[in-house]
Amino acid sequence: MINLATSVFSNNKFIIFGGGFSGDYFAKSIRKLGCKALTSSRSEKNDPDSFIFDSENNSMPDSEVFKGVTHILSCIPPDKNGKDPVLKSFKNTIRDLPIKWIGYLSTTGVYGNTNGNWVSENDKPNPFQERSHRRLNCENEWINSKLPVQIFRLPGIYGPGRSSLEAIKSKRVKIIHKNNQIFSRIHVADITNAIIYLLKNQNKLDFHQIINIADDKPCSQLEVIKYAYKILGLQMPKPILFEEAKKDLSPIAQSFWIENRKVSNKLLCNQLGYKLIYKNYKLGLDNCLANIK
Ligand SMILES: NC(=O)c1ccc[n+]([C@@H]2O[C@H](COP(=O)([O-])OP(=O)(O)OC[C@H]3O[C@@H](n4cnc5c(N)ncnc54)[C@H](OP(=O)(O)O)[C@@H]3O)[C@@H](O)[C@H]2O)c1
Repeated sequence: MINLATSVFSNNKFIIFGGGFSGDYFAKSIRKLGCKALTSSRSEKNDPDSFIFDSENNSMPDSEVFKGVTHILSCIPPDKNGKDPVLKSFKNTIRDLPIKWIGYLSTTGVYGNTNGNWVSENDKPNPFQERSHRRLNCENEWINSKLPVQIFRLPGIYGPGRSSLEAIKSKRVKIIHKNNQIFSRIHVADITNAIIYLLKNQNKLDFHQIINIADDKPCSQLEVIKYAYKILGLQMPKPILFEEAKKDLSPIAQSFWIENRKVSNKLLCNQLGYKLIYKNYKLGLDNCLANIK
């Protein structure tokens, strides 16, 4: 991890909208660098740096929360109409702030299905799922806002507390085989660390408005689950063929298996020089195992 406090973190104030898995990890990391970081959630938390925001029931924070805010990271998904909850509620408030940077966590779902081929930021989005259309709409809302926004497109996020290890332990794991089906993924620490890297080096690096954050090794979900069983020292049950398994999957779970793509990280890792902490799922899962409670 980066352990040098730099002025971008010590002299600024961040709001992280959506202090869920990725947002909370980011907030905790930048606080360690000396930064003031507030997180939102939909329910009351026993944390003085957390405030309530729920776009669905109009629970709005006090204006005090926005005082002196220079940076924002939004981790809240689109609403059911494809509108961005943060822009819908706070566009004018944000415009009045001395805002220097906004990060928006998006998904690689906006690329749609590529039948297993690579996708990069140069490819035109081609969303297939309804939720990916909503996501692309939010990306466009942020771009059209003319605020200084940077969009991070993410594949499946995992990390300590949310990985195949927990799925196996809680017996929620689905051991499914589908021929030639590839997924990309990213460890939560690399989302945070990549953003910290870009912010620390923003004066040296070319600005890119859209950046994929993915690891080096897209592969089948089965390969990951096999490894998770191995490091847990457990015997993996026989996989079920997707065609058989799908009748028992929820519509949302089925929809994940419709798309097949490999997400390129060349812009982030080759061009911009970010070095992944967890280059592949093995390193990432080893870390999750070390942190298992
Ligand atoms: N999970 C993945 O594999 C994945 C992959 C690619 C992209 N993404 C996207 O990347 C972002 C971060 O992912 P994540 O998995 O870290 O998210 P997460 O853990 O699900 O957290 C989402 C956050 O958004 C807040 N939120 C949701 N609806 C809201 C609303 N209507 N009003 C206000 N707050 C609301 C949640 O509040 P509470 O804390 O109260 O629940 C939570 O803090 C999300 O936009 C997600 O869709 C996720």
